[in-house]
Amino acid sequence: MILVTGSAGFIGSNFVLDWLAQSDEPVINLDALTYAGNLDNLVSLKNDARHIFVHGDIGNFQLVSQLLAEHQPRAVINFAAESHVDRSIHGPEDFIQTNIVGTFHLLEAVRAYYGQLGKEAQNNFRFLHVSTDEVYGSLAKDDPAFAETNRYEPNSPYSASKAASDHLVRAYHHTYGLPVLTTNCSNNYGPYHFPEKLIPLVIHNALGGKPLPIYGDGQQIRDWLYVKDHCSAIRRVLEAGTVGEVYNVGGWNEKANLDVVHTLCAILDELSPRTDGKPYKEQITYVKDRPGHDRRYAIDASKIERELGWKPAETFETGIKKTVKWYLDNQAWVKNVTSGAYQNWVGKQYKA
Ligand code: NAD
Ligand code: DAU
Repeated sequence: MILVTGSAGFIGSNFVLDWLAQSDEPVINLDALTYAGNLDNLVSLKNDARHIFVHGDIGNFQLVSQLLAEHQPRAVINFAAESHVDRSIHGPEDFIQTNIVGTFHLLEAVRAYYGQLGKEAQNNFRFLHVSTDEVYGSLAKDDPAFAETNRYEPNSPYSASKAASDHLVRAYHHTYGLPVLTTNCSNNYGPYHFPEKLIPLVIHNALGGKPLPIYGDGQQIRDWLYVKDHCSAIRRVLEAGTVGEVYNVGGWNEKANLDVVHTLCAILDELSPRTDGKPYKEQITYVKDRPGHDRRYAIDASKIERELGWKPAETFETGIKKTVKWYLDNQAWVKNVTSGAYQNWVGKQYKA
């Protein structure tokens, strides 16, 4: 069995759904159910005995220790985090608490558990930490993409907190011999993506007749990866990654934000045209830029391809179309997650 944290969120829930679609190995799912955690994502597993959901915090040493002792997992995969850059700018404290302090307590519980395992169980055990390309900072237009050897230069409270957690994970390997693996991934998109992030926000606002907010000049570049490709990369790293190593995961899909939004508008024009016959791109609105906005991210994913034989299955063109279709087919999910507290966030972030 494996213990997965943060798996009521976007990537974690995709990971658990994919895992149980391909394997009967049970999953304990530990999630604090913050605004970003949503059990609706996992409703298809409701009566599935292979999925055990536990409502709790990765920073709760006693709870995590008890779960480890009871279920004896062969791996812990840590997705749990505060993940939205804009929220980290409005209020960094939760990011420090979960991403740094929480990861520290989780590591402490795992270290104690690992220490009392027998030799064979120790050999098989892995702690896989899911991190981000943002820890490497921002690239200029012609810089080479981020390799695992790039130095850390985080620029936002979010990326700084993720960088700190990566350093803790690294230290627990070097100092205590904990068998860790770290993945640093580029921007994900796909089903169950919370509509505070660019792609689902634009789909949601477009369909609601609302402005499509572009920060600054819209020429910032992100390297987009379909979430199911990220999940397959994590499974592969867990299966065959070398202990103590870092693997960069990316989609080889660098796109400027404005181009992404134009693509979304064009797909929506085709699949769900506006009733007035006008194109969705008319809703594009330029708004104040994000403070400290990183200009460009790009991942060099050649190490994971060379050493582990992983590469993404989706192109941006195939993945983005699937994503828009998913949102059109799952408007009830969107309605649920955008009621209540979501409105407060939108009011705070996009006020004129
Ligand atoms: P998300 O915000 O959608 O989900 C985070 C989940 O963690 C939620 O279910 C939330 O309830 C849970 N959580 C938060 N604090 C917790 C705590 N203290 N204890 C237990 N659970 C807690 O995030 P996501 O986009 O799915 O990202 C998952 C991981 O992948 C994060 O570590 C993030 O840094 C990393 N990552 C994300 C992306 C991306 O594009 N979304 C890219 C690279 C890396
Ligand atoms: O690179 C990996 C990271 O990708 C992850 O570590 C983060 O958890 C994840 O949130 C994501 O961070 P970004 O800041 O790149 O994603 P976001 O969707 O918030 O923004 C993508 C780009 O779009 C970014 O340049 C900011 C811009 N943007 C975003 C929003 C929400 C806009 O122009 N308008 C918007 O309204």
